[in-house]
Amino acid sequence: MKRIYLILSAALLFAASYVANAQMYTLKDAYKPYFSVGVAVNLRNISDPQQSAVVLRNFNSITAENVMKPQLVHPYQGEFDWEDADKVADFCRQNGIKLRGHCLMWHKQIGEWMFKDENGNYVSKEILFDRMRTHINAVVNRYKDIVYCWDVVNEAINDDSTSPDFYRTTSGFWEICHDGEWIEKAFQYAREADPNALLFYNDFNECDPVKRQRIYDMVKKMKAKGVPIDGIGMQAHYNIFGPSMKEVDKTIKMFSELVEHIHVTELDVRLTNSTGGNQRYAQTGEVTLNEEDLKKQEEYYDELFKVFRKNKKYLDVVTFWNLADADSWLGRQNAPLLFDFNFRPKPVYRTVVNFKD
Ligand code: G3I
Repeated sequence: MKRIYLILSAALLFAASYVANAQMYTLKDAYKPYFSVGVAVNLRNISDPQQSAVVLRNFNSITAENVMKPQLVHPYQGEFDWEDADKVADFCRQNGIKLRGHCLMWHKQIGEWMFKDENGNYVSKEILFDRMRTHINAVVNRYKDIVYCWDVVNEAINDDSTSPDFYRTTSGFWEICHDGEWIEKAFQYAREADPNALLFYNDFNECDPVKRQRIYDMVKKMKAKGVPIDGIGMQAHYNIFGPSMKEVDKTIKMFSELVEHIHVTELDVRLTNSTGGNQRYAQTGEVTLNEEDLKKQEEYYDELFKVFRKNKKYLDVVTFWNLADADSWLGRQNAPLLFDFNFRPKPVYRTVVNFKD
């Protein structure tokens, strides 16, 4: 009887310590000596008990996936709608998690009113700058107690490396300005509104040599002119075939010549080799994922985090874009994240957490 009791106690102790260790060993803990680990959330992720528990256990930086964007907080001129953005900010305040502000100026998800007059014609540069300043001032001031950095300008550089155009030409900003002055203004207005927040330029396909050079040249010029920019955001929407680790490493090194802060802002590794946001899939329904592709994804993430760890002195935070495959903006077939359709860790999660170096 005594023996059975002893065996049972030992088994219980072992199980308890296993559970404790399993609980403790999470993304944010594993990466504590390296950088913060962030996640872009929707409102379900922070209200559903299971999902919010996953967020709180694993992440120590949060980005609002959509609700802080210009269109959502400022749909009409002078009319603000803070309700959803406040929910994310309050979640961060209540749980002591820092918030990455995303984003102040972007050609997408921004009200047409920013660019046009009541007759639908583009306004002058001066009027645009005035509206930008009002918007930036309002948003930055509302969240300055909790937001530690802002993506001030998002995706302003031309993504077509075969085109001679340096800046994106399909945007209200371009239609009005035909140059990059508005980008500099946005940073000045953000600094004016909060001298303490770190200010970022954020873009995708940042490892493409042509686009990378454009980002580099623009930021270099801004720094030389005294524009208040602190960091570059590498969105990192990657796939199982690329970019190569050599290019990721080179990109971090190049950007670190210019700025003190580099953030990986929107990481996901999709199961296809399409780039950009063109190949999206359904967000509901059954899908069967290819085991070989999942294996490739695991290897890719493993290599990628090796590169990130190696560059820890340059990287402050690595943020995943969405919590789980269940709600990725890319849809279910791309399954680009570390958590699955039920918000449970995939095998790749353990690979990223249990690294050896
Ligand atoms: O909220 C409406 C809903 O009311 C409506 O019924 C539904 C019908 O389509 O649309 C919903 O809005 C969608 C919104 O996401 C919220 O789910 C928009 O259509 C959809 O376009 C929007 O997509 C967002 C996308 O930015 C817009 O370009 C994605 O969720 C978001 O993940 C994505 O995030 C961007 C970053 O901000 C910048 N970098 C690229 C990244 C991925 O595209």
